Amino acid sequence: MFERQRASRRADITNFHHDWLTELMSRTGKSNRGTPACYAMVHSGLESIAADEITKELGGEVKKAEKGIVVFKIEEIIPELLHLRTVEDVFLLAWGTDTLTYRAEDLKQIKMWTEKQAPWQHLFGLHQSIRPKAKGRPTYRVVTQMNGQHGYRRTDASKAFRQGLAPFIPVTWNAAEDNTFLEVWLTIRGRMATCGVRLSDKTMRHKSYKVEHLPASLRPTMAAAMVRLAGAGPGQVMLDPMCGAGTIICEQIIIGKQQQEGRIETWGGDIEMNTLRACASNIKRVGPAVIAHWDARRLPIATESVDRIISNPPFGKQLSTPEDIGPLYKAAVREYHRVLKPGGKAVFLVMEQDVLREAIKGYGWIPQRQFGVEVLGQDAVISVWQKVGE
Ligand SMILES: C[S@@+](CC[C@H](N)C(=O)[O-])C[C@H]1O[C@@H](n2cnc3c(N)ncnc32)[C@H](O)[C@@H]1O
Repeated sequence: MFERQRASRRADITNFHHDWLTELMSRTGKSNRGTPACYAMVHSGLESIAADEITKELGGEVKKAEKGIVVFKIEEIIPELLHLRTVEDVFLLAWGTDTLTYRAEDLKQIKMWTEKQAPWQHLFGLHQSIRPKAKGRPTYRVVTQMNGQHGYRRTDASKAFRQGLAPFIPVTWNAAEDNTFLEVWLTIRGRMATCGVRLSDKTMRHKSYKVEHLPASLRPTMAAAMVRLAGAGPGQVMLDPMCGAGTIICEQIIIGKQQQEGRIETWGGDIEMNTLRACASNIKRVGPAVIAHWDARRLPIATESVDRIISNPPFGKQLSTPEDIGPLYKAAVREYHRVLKPGGKAVFLVMEQDVLREAIKGYGWIPQRQFGVEVLGQDAVISVWQKVGE
């Protein structure tokens, strides 16, 4: 009987080992105390930008970057994992697969992988080394997310996951919903599932500097992605001509400090006085910037004086007369072209990419990169352009 059980377990594990995610995890091994793989949840469309940050800033080795998830290895689990700017959350990988079948048999596998494949005690210990426990009984939360049409419900997947996990949760821990010490997640996206221990908390995605929110304000991770794409260097000037609540400016200051290569001048402005007040409150917590009340169509800035422009102008649907978007983009780009140095770069986030392209046409800017993203539930595009040098 025991032999039969062992043989069937071996067969299951062998099947699972065909897929690379589990191979990655199994190198850590259930009993091995090595460094587990990690994964980051990323806003869809930003995977390659987050992968670049993980590689360059942490020396990570990226194994997979798709469907809003970046799986990677780093030498050691270090607190700097929580300093990533372009990712929403970071986890220690317990197990992963991209061979889900969409059929109910997945549920058995989910339970089995959770129970047999993950070095839970080791992961909990690593979690505690990064996020020390507060006084009192530890609390925990189990989260199951599921996207895509499967032959089972999210609650079924959650039940299988909880059953597999149950033997590893100490009886002294209390289940809770908010502000728990520990969170264990299962995320299913089509054929892919990742399961792990959350290292980050909500401040990673919302950022503590954001005390003032405006309806059209950017997600900080999106702003950080734009800052990384612009790539301003020490001694250079970055301008956000329609800065709103100042998310791009804050991310530029923080990323500039993290890279510690010398100060980047950060300038921004907006046509709305109230917006500028919100911007000033947010920036106060981050660092110095020059903020002004202006119309981006007539900037009080010298010709060819800025190295990078990062702009998130209003989308058509945000204007009372959406047809004004064409003239606004045309007038703004004419001014951006004037103030940008030759060889300088501009990064835009817009929904109406055709309208932007039309506005840029005629200035000879070179399109460099383009990323499809979702903003407020709508398709939008981040694009990078370079003004031709002398
Ligand atoms: C999409 S919001 C920018 C949001 C900003 N990136 C943030 O994270 O808060 C667009 C901003 O452009 C500003 N704006 C619109 N027309 C402008 C103009 N002609 N000159 C300067 N700012 C303008 C709006 O007041 C608004 O704050």
